Amino acid sequence: MGTTIFAEMSALALDTDSVNLGQGFPDVDGPHEIAAAAAAAIMEGRGNQYPPGPGIPELRRAVADHQKRFYAQDVDPDAEVLVTAGATEAIAAALIALMEPGDEAIAFEPYYDSYAACIAMAGGTRVPVTLRPPGFRPDLDALRAAITPRTRLILLNSPHNPTGAVFSQAELAQIAALACEHDLLVVSDEVYEHMVFDGEHVPIGSLPGMRERTVTISSAAKTFSFTGWKIGWVTATPELVTAVRTVKQFLTYVTGGPFQYAVAEALAMPDAYYASIAADLRVKRDLLCPGLAEAGFEVYQPAGTFFVTTDIRGLGEKDGMEFCRELPRRVGVVAIPSSVFYDDQEAGRTQVRFAFCKKEEVLREALARLAGRDRDG
Ligand SMILES: Cc1ncc(COP(=O)(O)O)c(C=O)c1O
Repeated sequence: MGTTIFAEMSALALDTDSVNLGQGFPDVDGPHEIAAAAAAAIMEGRGNQYPPGPGIPELRRAVADHQKRFYAQDVDPDAEVLVTAGATEAIAAALIALMEPGDEAIAFEPYYDSYAACIAMAGGTRVPVTLRPPGFRPDLDALRAAITPRTRLILLNSPHNPTGAVFSQAELAQIAALACEHDLLVVSDEVYEHMVFDGEHVPIGSLPGMRERTVTISSAAKTFSFTGWKIGWVTATPELVTAVRTVKQFLTYVTGGPFQYAVAEALAMPDAYYASIAADLRVKRDLLCPGLAEAGFEVYQPAGTFFVTTDIRGLGEKDGMEFCRELPRRVGVVAIPSSVFYDDQEAGRTQVRFAFCKKEEVLREALARLAGRDRDG
């Protein structure tokens, strides 16, 4: 599973002194003033003891304001927001809360590695619908065909890790129509919501008929480059939030009190900050993608996130897992074999994912190494 490969690859990166474009964490921390806000909260004794179960009021209000500001959504901060230990806990708590043993959850593959584990923890069955290159567009006929009387929910992720696909409003509307027609819930993981280069992010919960059936999830990790803080949140109707909170209560109860104060401030940052997130990453995308293409990879240019999926067949390679295990020793670069994100191993066998949330000089060094190919000649 994914966790094993991430650990294996990070250990390999250290052993071989490789440039690590494997796991998706930035190599620069988020805004200094937000870090200072967290430090101040600790020193001033705000949040050092168990914060309220649903999250501190300041953060719940900031999340509601954010949904209004960016998506014109009306969210009641008291009844419709829940603060979680990152998006990871939000996903786990939502699936455990909303699925009964034997229920099916449809997820587009390749998928973020916690999805399969959380569906299993909920006693559910995962039903993958495959996104295929070059565009990784959702196949609506395949989605329709995957729905059975046991389907409880669709687990959605747009902008999408690992492909970088951003589902269009039209695609989301069709997914929403299927959810309404079959009375399904949608759990929507939107952690890359502010990392869109082409197109725009549309929360599926904002589409007609979706408010009462969508659990929207996001997190401070990616938007503010503080992946270690583990502050995430859920927005949904009071009934759905109550269900998720009931599970969260016995997973972590509460999380990261002082960080909640800092994230409340972060969410209120000016538009210029939000615009800079995608603008900075776009420069990095536009550095890494052509470089990878020059090095012989087929590159599926991402419209969002900070990942790019490539295909290695043009390099004469047949197996991404083997390729990624050898690459650190051969050239000193770490990437992730996308097969770990698929149930259908054949679909992902020759795909390899690179993260570009790294300093430009780090990306340049990775490209120089890849262009040189074999380290020892
Ligand atoms: C699609 C997706 N969802 C959720 C997460 C985890 O978010 P958090 O760090 O807030 O738990 C990640 C992190 O890589 C992700 O890629």
